[in-house]
Amino acid sequence: MEICAVVMAAGKSTRMKSKISKVAHQVSGKPIIQWVADALFEAGCSEQVYVVGEQQEQIRSILGENVIYVLQEEQRGTGHAVMQASGFLEGRLGVTIVLPGDCPMVSADTIKRALAAYEAEGDDCAAMIITAVADDPTGYGRVLRDSDGSVDRIIEHRDCTEEELKIKEINSSMYVFRTPLLISALGRIGANNSQSEYYLTDTIGILKKDGYRIGAVICDIDDTRGVNDCIQLSQVQAIMNRRILENHMRNGVQIVDPASTWIHSAVRIASDTVILPGTTLVGDTVIGSDCIIGENTRIDGSVIGDGTVIDCSVVTRSVIGSDCRIGPFSHIRPDCNIADHVTLGAYVEVKSSDIGEYTRARHLTYIGDSSVGKNVNFGCGTVTCNFDGQDKAGCTIEDNVFIGGNSNIVSSVVLGRDSYIAAGSTITSDVPALSLGIGRSQQVNKADWVSEKSRMRGENYIRLDDKRSEV
Ligand code: UD1
Ligand code: MG
Repeated sequence: MEICAVVMAAGKSTRMKSKISKVAHQVSGKPIIQWVADALFEAGCSEQVYVVGEQQEQIRSILGENVIYVLQEEQRGTGHAVMQASGFLEGRLGVTIVLPGDCPMVSADTIKRALAAYEAEGDDCAAMIITAVADDPTGYGRVLRDSDGSVDRIIEHRDCTEEELKIKEINSSMYVFRTPLLISALGRIGANNSQSEYYLTDTIGILKKDGYRIGAVICDIDDTRGVNDCIQLSQVQAIMNRRILENHMRNGVQIVDPASTWIHSAVRIASDTVILPGTTLVGDTVIGSDCIIGENTRIDGSVIGDGTVIDCSVVTRSVIGSDCRIGPFSHIRPDCNIADHVTLGAYVEVKSSDIGEYTRARHLTYIGDSSVGKNVNFGCGTVTCNFDGQDKAGCTIEDNVFIGGNSNIVSSVVLGRDSYIAAGSTITSDVPALSLGIGRSQQVNKADWVSEKSRMRGENYIRLDDKRSEV
């Protein structure tokens, strides 16, 4: 069976009140229109025509050149939208799947179910509609059925009588049409309705009158939800997120508080990892097994090895090895490559740096643009000074270096292997291997300085606790 699809995506998204086309808004990290395209590809439909309007550039930049675009210059309704694809549809014999561009919940399964139901019908079947039963059908087109249970026609909410408004079966705006019959019916629809638009839904009544049968597959309403405004966008995001979390939980990932956990569709997590409340995992993040992630952690586009713990931290586009301890309150900025068994603790920021295994920076440290070996110890308050006001450059810190607290390592020095840096140093030239680098002025102790100062003021020096006991 020859299969193609027409996706209607030319609407102006007026109700979104956004400069971004509604189909370009993201649900679980993927643009709405990409969800639709992926479902079609997965269902085996590779020939896809997108009806686009004013915001076509946004859609083209998402879907690229794998699909076909036709322009609907004026938005005169869903029927008019599909008519724009008639040049592509004419002469085709198989079926056309028609979908709205604003339904990210559509799945390949739903499309396959509709195709299978259509194929199971005889030659007298012209179309298969995907419908759903809504508790609150307000705004949707209603499905009117014959006495024998088959579909008779669809009536838009605005055009319904009191009686018809009570119908709870709604049109999802997803259909499988026999292509020649779709073209024939489109040629006969008018715009004689409350919105003076050409309704695609009218093709159903026309084909029925021609003597064809119209079938329907009833789906879960959540699989058909569309996005017309920001409220519906947030509802759809919540449903999609819940589904993604449940998939992970089925695969052995523990999610302590699904309500406060957001995971994008492309994220992969191995079993026995625990995700604590307030965690957001986005991009194409991959997390190994036996990790503990969170609370309140954001990981974006990163790879995390097995057994790593990341607590209250932010990790962006970086690789972290196995059995690392990150956080609380670490910031791992893009392009870090952190090996196994590394500890990066409170208020440690790392950017564009490689860090070797067993290295530790437990507190208040900044490492930027640097290459750090194995088993290095960063004392509290170490800073790699990687910016000279114009250019960024890092330092090279070889294996087993021990850096005392509150030290500045100015780029682009090399600290040789097994060297020590005295606490409080500002290191501006290389330190050879196995050496001690001291970059601070020598300490001078002035004996009896305090009593001297008191005498100069004509006072007797009194120790603080003596003063207190006097009071
Ligand atoms: C449509 C259906 C309704 C169904 C509902 C399900 C019609 C007449 N009504 O109503 O029966 O219950 O979807 O969500 O079909 N579009 C164009 N060009 C246009 C008009 C619309 O490309 O001229 C696109 C929109 O961008 C959107 C899709 O078609 O992606 C559906 O249009 P929308 O205005 O959302 O239709 P609904 O009022 O939701
Ligand atoms: Mg809609």
